[in-house]
Amino acid sequence: MQLSHRLRALAALLAVVGGPLSVHAAQESAASISASSAPASILSSALSSVSASAVSSASVVPSSAPTSAPVSSSAAVSSSAPGPSSSAPVSLSSVLSSAPASLSSVISSAPASVSVSFSAASSASASASISSVASTPISASSAFISVSIPASNASISASTTAPPSVSVSASAAAAGSPSFNSGTGTETGPITVPLSEYTFSSFPVASSTPIPKVFVPVTPANPPPVSSDEIPDFAQAWADAYEKAEAFTLGLTVPEKVNVVTGVGWENGRCVGNIPAVGEWPGLCLEDSPLGVRDTDFNTAFPAGITAASTFNRSLIRTRGAFMGAEFKGKGVNLALGPMMNMGRVAQGGRNWEGFGADPFLSGAAAYETVLGLQSSGVQATAKHFINNEQEYKRTQESSNVDDRTEHEIYVAPFLQAVRAGVAAVMCSYNLVNDTYACENNRTLNQILKGELGFRGFVMSDWSAQHSTLSAVAGLDMSMPGDIDLGSHTSWWGPNLTAFVDNSTIPDSRLDDMVTRILASWYFLGQDAPDFPPVSFNAFNNNDPATNQHVDVQGDHWTVVREIGAAGTALLKNNGALPLNKPKNIAIIGSDAADASMGPNGFSDRGGDDGILAMGWGSGTANYPYLIAPVDAIQDRAVQDGTDVNWWFLDFNTAGAQTAAFGFEAAIVFANADSGEQYITVDGNAGDRNNLTLWHNADNLINAVAEVNNNTIVVVHSVGPCILEAWIENPNVTAVLWANIAGQEAGNSIVDVLYGDFNPSGRLPYTIAKSPSDYPAQPTGGGGPNDIISVPYTEGLFIDYRHFDAQNITPRFEFGFGLSYTTFAYSNLRTSTIAQQDHDSTQLEQAWAKGEATPNVEGASTAVWLHRPAFEVTFEVKNTGPVAGGEIPQLYLHSPDSSEPPSLLRGFADVLLSPGESQTVRITLSRYDLSVWDVDAQGWRKPSGAFQISVGASSRDFRLSGTLPV
Ligand SMILES: *[C@@H]1O[C@H](CO)[C@@H](O)[C@H](O)[C@H]1NC(C)=O
Ligand SMILES: *[C@@H]1O[C@H](CO)[C@@H](O)[C@H](O)[C@H]1NC(C)=O
Ligand SMILES: *[C@@H]1O[C@H](CO)[C@@H](O)[C@H](O)[C@H]1NC(C)=O
Ligand SMILES: *[C@@H]1O[C@H](CO)[C@@H](O)[C@H](O)[C@H]1NC(C)=O
Repeated sequence: MQLSHRLRALAALLAVVGGPLSVHAAQESAASISASSAPASILSSALSSVSASAVSSASVVPSSAPTSAPVSSSAAVSSSAPGPSSSAPVSLSSVLSSAPASLSSVISSAPASVSVSFSAASSASASASISSVASTPISASSAFISVSIPASNASISASTTAPPSVSVSASAAAAGSPSFNSGTGTETGPITVPLSEYTFSSFPVASSTPIPKVFVPVTPANPPPVSSDEIPDFAQAWADAYEKAEAFTLGLTVPEKVNVVTGVGWENGRCVGNIPAVGEWPGLCLEDSPLGVRDTDFNTAFPAGITAASTFNRSLIRTRGAFMGAEFKGKGVNLALGPMMNMGRVAQGGRNWEGFGADPFLSGAAAYETVLGLQSSGVQATAKHFINNEQEYKRTQESSNVDDRTEHEIYVAPFLQAVRAGVAAVMCSYNLVNDTYACENNRTLNQILKGELGFRGFVMSDWSAQHSTLSAVAGLDMSMPGDIDLGSHTSWWGPNLTAFVDNSTIPDSRLDDMVTRILASWYFLGQDAPDFPPVSFNAFNNNDPATNQHVDVQGDHWTVVREIGAAGTALLKNNGALPLNKPKNIAIIGSDAADASMGPNGFSDRGGDDGILAMGWGSGTANYPYLIAPVDAIQDRAVQDGTDVNWWFLDFNTAGAQTAAFGFEAAIVFANADSGEQYITVDGNAGDRNNLTLWHNADNLINAVAEVNNNTIVVVHSVGPCILEAWIENPNVTAVLWANIAGQEAGNSIVDVLYGDFNPSGRLPYTIAKSPSDYPAQPTGGGGPNDIISVPYTEGLFIDYRHFDAQNITPRFEFGFGLSYTTFAYSNLRTSTIAQQDHDSTQLEQAWAKGEATPNVEGASTAVWLHRPAFEVTFEVKNTGPVAGGEIPQLYLHSPDSSEPPSLLRGFADVLLSPGESQTVRITLSRYDLSVWDVDAQGWRKPSGAFQISVGASSRDFRLSGTLPV
């Protein structure tokens, strides 16, 4: 969810800071800039920075960039008052891609006040107005100015009443899509749910007989231990919860039932989503995000989903979930709005970092552990965004057109695991699927989610993703935040739903089912306990003393933040430069090593990239309680080691960086790449990244430092894959650490890895390609303001490494890759079947063995027999190197059919070994793990042929192979 999905914000950031000359060059988009009416000294520095940025940007614009959308901009700096400005260095550069604009200006004195005027380039948008102007003093000599305009096709100008006086203006002549894939067409949709009478009967869910040691009856509070063979069977816990919920529902009137399913409206409650109290039932507080409690304080800012996935460590992922769950509950939140499990179909996808990478098995395992963890602490988890919400551009106006097999095997897969973990809620997404909105899609909600997966919780809409009253019959159970548009005070439900129920267009039984699902989820989590904490914060006004108790829920959760930050870091290259060993002196280069100049939470919803990058931007964020920058953590270490430390944080001044790095034993260059949700534009990136280059001139900075220092170590904090070709083979780049986005302990985590206190074991949860065009899919652009664009998922099953493998494309670093400071040897692979203990399912298992599809009945896809460990693979892993370390053995399945993806991740483990130590690793597979989705039969089926497997250290580093006895 977001602030407003309609707001096409044109955000311009005017940073006015004191200090030495620093210019943000255009690294994201084409721009042509002219400057005028400025004193000669100012003008010349502006022009030199502008021409430099124009050159560097030209090389990153894809050839497919629409030429029909010419972009021009103008920028002017003037100094009308005498004062420091005439002698101080002042420069300006303006970046305008087709839609957004960003500006930065550097002067040495803070302006007294700021005014901004607006003019539109076309009459169509001339009526648009400036939506916000803010000037935030940073210090006596500097201030930050931000301007947003809710329109494209516009120009902005800003001026300060000095001294000194600075005015800045820029305009975009044309607006439109980002400069990627121009689109394949538009849809005629949306197809709506026809107005007619519907009947409804709720789904009975297949209940299995518990089998001791295999299918254990559990409640969310007592899930099976991590990596046990036990399959949690929530059937009895759901049945108990349904009984209580049905009893309560019986006593409610229709308007009361409608209140249970309709949110109170945007900003009408203390949480980001609110359901009102009904009778003695207290209602619900729903709150972001997938990495911690949003919009409050005294909370922990955990590493993002992508970093958790990079650990390939189920225990850490479970613990992260449990700690986050404790914080949500501690603040009085009923529903945590996470985990997020979209698949990273396109590498540039703005919200990929909230999720668990580009493989459905990895994402499913992470979703499973996160849900079990969150719910073990008493908060309801929300699996999102269901489904095919894989890009931010036109996310409310794109139809993801996905074939049925791909839908099941890739995009549904993590949701299936969340349902197996007993997830209480699912959030449907903004986009359309096959021309029907995801929040009124009978196929995805009723047939797949509630039918095949047997989901017993409830479906809520993403914020304003609901499009009709009749969405109720297509499977939607809760309207969030309740109003049609944020703050509109109208609703598809509320009185409209009452009217539709009163005249029987929507059956009573359906409304009862919606209410029952919502109440059952509340009982399921034990939230009827009298000691469930009351809401103690106000998401919309953190400073209101009446509604904020500032409850500290952090505990010692920072410890797992620090550990996941280290365990989620992948060592991609190491010529012996790491670990550092009491270096005599080191140079730290790049703003990503530094503290953010406006503080850790200076950008609203983290919508900016300044200093250490430890989360992306948008609603998937939380406030940092503090944020440890690498430079701080390295200096703490330098005190112990007696190391001299130098630094240089001006990314665009490479000559200065060279001076700072020259003669040092090691130079560590920190770089980053950011992305986020589409309601905020950062550096010209409207959510999705415009390209896959590192930000802030990093390629040039790394090469410049490597020119003068032959021990240049690169650390990248990134939301997703980047192209590293500009420097990865530079022999003076001696080591590379891929640190993802690590949360509040980012600096400490990277120091643990740099100095070998934590031997790196993180693995890439996606492929790093040599060229953007090597990836199987690109974001889809194009479309006019009212068009619904087509996003055909033509790559089908071949996302990420499956495509590289099938097309024989050599990636720079493959999925699952990561080095260590030690080495490991693999031996002695054995495979066997696991003895049957569930006699009730013998017939189903025999049918599966014969190649028959699973029966097309409710809950068939999550049936416990299909998911119990059925085959086991064991092998030895030995630490053959000098230091203790963790290894992540991975198991890949190879289809005998050459038209299938060559390798599929189907298992992984984490082992920690001392030097010389060896251990037997056991990885189990279920029948589901070996199955394909049979579109005709609508069931899971064992393909014919032998099941070849490989075990190794990445998707391309196989050490052992064998055949499963299937
Ligand atoms: C979308 O259309 C494709 C092609 O007809 C079909 O295979 C798939 O099942 C459809 N999915 C949904 C959710 O309607
Ligand atoms: C949804 O699909 C089911 C079949 O699973 C069908 O019986 C029902 O009529 C459909 N409902 C709507 C609203 O299309
Ligand atoms: C009922 O829905 C319509 C859209 O069909 C909307 O315009 C109207 O405002 C809604 N009524 C209420 C009371 O919210
Ligand atoms: C039921 O009520 C709704 C809302 O007033 C209306 O749009 C619809 O046409 C009615 N249906 C029937 C069958 O009267």
